[in-house]
Formats: sequence, structure tokens, C-alpha cells
Amino acid sequence: MTHVREQLSQLPLLELTTGFMSFKAFAAAVELDVFTSLSGGREVTESQFAAAVGLQERPARLLLPALVSLGLLEKHGNAYRNTPVAEQFLVNDKPYFFGGFLQFYNHALYRGWEHLVEALRANTSVLSPGGDTVFGPDDFMIRYFWEAMHALAGFTGKTLADAYDFSAHKRVLDVGGGSGGIPIELCRTVAGLSATVYELPHVCPIVLRKAEEAGLADVVDARPGDFTADEALPSGYDVMILSQVLHCGDEAGNRTLLAKCLSALEPGGTVLICELLLNPERTGPRPAALMGLNMLIAHPGGENYSEQEYLTWLAEAGFVDLRVERLEAAGANGVVIGRKPL
Ligand SMILES: C[S@@+](CC[C@H](N)C(=O)[O-])C[C@H]1O[C@@H](n2cnc3c(N)ncnc32)[C@H](O)[C@@H]1O
Repeated sequence: MTHVREQLSQLPLLELTTGFMSFKAFAAAVELDVFTSLSGGREVTESQFAAAVGLQERPARLLLPALVSLGLLEKHGNAYRNTPVAEQFLVNDKPYFFGGFLQFYNHALYRGWEHLVEALRANTSVLSPGGDTVFGPDDFMIRYFWEAMHALAGFTGKTLADAYDFSAHKRVLDVGGGSGGIPIELCRTVAGLSATVYELPHVCPIVLRKAEEAGLADVVDARPGDFTADEALPSGYDVMILSQVLHCGDEAGNRTLLAKCLSALEPGGTVLICELLLNPERTGPRPAALMGLNMLIAHPGGENYSEQEYLTWLAEAGFVDLRVERLEAAGANGVVIGRKPL
């Protein structure tokens, strides 16, 4: 009997090791406005590109093919142009522009991840080592963080509206709703819906500006508050959204917040938890498992949870008709749904 030894390869390890090169090449291209400059089907040769963005020919000759290898550009003859994904999500003024998210990772989280071993050893956030919230009124955060959230939220809102029927609802409360990207998308597409973003006071002006820019200032507003310190959440809403909020908190804080949602919701109202949900073994999907580590770096508490954990917390808070729908968005792979009894 012959024994065939499985031939293991080092290539998966190379792929993991060079992952940072893909990220940094992508980030450099966004910073150099490559995709915006090629919008609308524009094509350039390497030398035309070099002249347009002020690079020498050698770096241009290295960057553009690397972006083809990453699936962000296509090459036809001597000319480069955006791939469909770059044209849709990486052109500056398009509605679901992803660049703000990438910029935050490039300018803040990338540096934080250099200290992952320290964070693992000390079980502490490297971005908020004193245990403070990272959501303070910091200039850097105001410039980058809520733009990063906005870059994902519009698309999350779009996929949420496909997965969940909002037509029976009238008033949304987006708890910790960030820049308001989700309610802006929902109010743009669902007739008769209005929304309030319940946020820390320094975030509310960002919401109002984004609503104004979207032409929705009459239906999307902001209410300053603090869902930890405030005894009760604002009432009078028939649907509440918690998007990427519970993964910033620990279990006890999350259970308390869900109890506050139940008390404040209208009878029969719905809570929607949008997150990168882990599988029951907590071994994936990869974006959810890695986001958990990101929470270790960025927050004093918080981690990604499985849908089973959210379902248990919702049931114990008193929600009924629990179910999960899948989403395909960068900020959420599912929505966990519960209803307040009548
Ligand atoms: C990860 S962001 C998610 C933003 C938004 N839900 C989204 O999906 O784009 C978490 C948000 O929770 C807000 N937040 C954190 N602690 C809060 C508190 N105690 N009260 C109200 N909002 C809070 C932050 O300001 C931040 O905008």
C-alpha cells in the first residue's frame, strides 16, 4: 500500500504575510485619488497617469499593475481603467463611497494594530488605554471616524431595507446611529418614514449636516443623549436600530441597553441589531472574527458576538418573534430581529 503524503505549501502563509501590502497599496491609491481620477470610464497609460497625479514614471509603472492584481483596475492594451467595484465604491462623490472607511483604518487603526501583542497581553485597548471611550469630541475622530462609519452605513441601510420590510413602520430611532447614514438611506427609500438619531451631543451636528446634504432635513433629525447614562431612551418610536453599537459594549452593558430599548419602544415595535455576526463556534466568518480583535485594540470593552448570543439576550429582555436575516454589507453580515409584545 502506498502512502501519499499531503504536500503542504507555504503559499497561504505568504498570502497572510503580505496582506498589509495589499492594504497599503489600496490606501495609497485612494490617497492619490486614482479611482476618482479614472471615473466615468476614463482610461490612462502609465505615463499619462504619472503626469496627472505628479508621480515619476517608475512608481506609476509599479502602482498601476499592482492595483490590477488587487482587482481594482483593469488593463486593456496600454491603458488602465477602474473595475466595476472601484467605479461604484471608490469614486469620491458616489453615494456609497468607501474611501472614508479606508482612510480611518489607514490613519488610525493600522497604527493601533502594530500594538496588537501589547493589547493581547494586557487585555487593554491601545487606542483608549485609560479605559475611556474612543467616541469623545476629538478633532481626529470628528474628521475621520464618523466619515468612516458613514462610508459603510448607507450601504448597510440599503441591504437592510432589502432584508426587512419597513413599510409598516413610521418612526425610527437609530440608537448610537453615528452620522445617520442608515436612517438617511431608509428615509430616502421608504415612503412615510421619519427618523431620529440618538447620539452623543458632539455627533448630532454631523447627523444634521449629512441629513441636510441628502435633502432630508425634514425627516431625519438628531437627539443628543447618552444611552449608558440616560435612564430611559427616547420614546414614541416603533422601530429601533442598533448598528455596530453592541459590539462596542460588554455583555452586561448590552443587556441593560436592550432592556432600555424594550421599555422605550412602542408596543409591537421592532428592534433591529445589525452586526458582523460570528458563527456559533466563534471561528468566523473572518471579517467578524477579525473585527473582534479590532474591538480589543479600539475599545475598553466590546467584541463581536454570535447571533445565538444576541438571540439569547433579546429573549431574556422580553422580545418575541426572534429571527435573523442575512445582509451582505461591509459593516454587517446579518440583522437580528425582535418584537416587543403588544
Ligand atoms: C461603531 S459606531 C456605529 C455608528 C452607526 N450605528 C453605524 O452603524 O454607522 C458606534 C456609535 O455609538 C455612539 N455611541 C457610543 N456610546 C454612546 C452612548 N453612550 N450614547 C449614545 N451614543 C453612543 C458613538 O458615538 C458611535 O457613533
